[in-house]
Amino acid sequence: MEVIIKPGYDQLSAAAAQQIAEVLNRKPNAVLGLATGSTPLGVYKELVRMHREESLDFSRCTTFNLDEYVGLPVTHDQSYHYFMHENFFKHVNVPEQNIHVPSGTTSNFPAFCDWYEQRIEECGGIDVQILGIGSDGHIAFNEPTSSLSSRTRLKTLAKVTIDDNARFFDKAEDVPIYAITMGVGTILEADEIILLANGKGKADAIAQAVEGPVSSMITASALQMHPYTKFYIDQDAASNLKMREYYEWIQMKKPGAPEA
Ligand code: F6R
Repeated sequence: MEVIIKPGYDQLSAAAAQQIAEVLNRKPNAVLGLATGSTPLGVYKELVRMHREESLDFSRCTTFNLDEYVGLPVTHDQSYHYFMHENFFKHVNVPEQNIHVPSGTTSNFPAFCDWYEQRIEECGGIDVQILGIGSDGHIAFNEPTSSLSSRTRLKTLAKVTIDDNARFFDKAEDVPIYAITMGVGTILEADEIILLANGKGKADAIAQAVEGPVSSMITASALQMHPYTKFYIDQDAASNLKMREYYEWIQMKKPGAPEA
């Protein structure tokens, strides 16, 4: 696990986008795992800029989103289908048929979840997965006590997540209670994982995920078991890390790193 602390949101977004661009340049038919929420918006903005100005090509890639609310039609402005279309897909050239976002309106959730897992496997697995983190330490919608080997499934959201996400809806009662989400086990199979976090509100979750015990109470802590995960975080999100100076020292002493 590598902890990369950047001065602010724009810098962490640019660094994470750069890592994704490197994957795509190395492997044009890469499979990208995508997240929604407010945190990855800067990464999508930067990837769109790279597509426009540097010809970053998405024409051969395939995408899988982490999760979707249950019950929201794809046209609902808070559905993750809508979010992805508005903030990313309509600005780049991922072929429509290569885009996968879980269905929140399927009539058969278990069958859909099995199909989603199978589809990821058929496409060769995820090359690079983007994650945010909930203030309760969740990744995707794997709320506290989710099995660390869980797969794509229906999940009941925690009260704190509903409250956190109420800011996107007219009122808290409008936030769906259920979501369909990739499991922790599904996420851990990605070759590379990028976790993004900014702001004081994420400082506790980040400290527990990076330095706490591996526990289903903080599902992001399972990333400690993953061989190639990078946390891109800002100063505020880093503020509760005990080993912060060490993480900064590692970045400073990397071969090719500029002298501080
Ligand atoms: C969204 C997702 C969630 C969010 C998390 C943080 O696809 O998987 O785990 O990443 O709830 O959300 P923001 O970025 O809005 O703070």
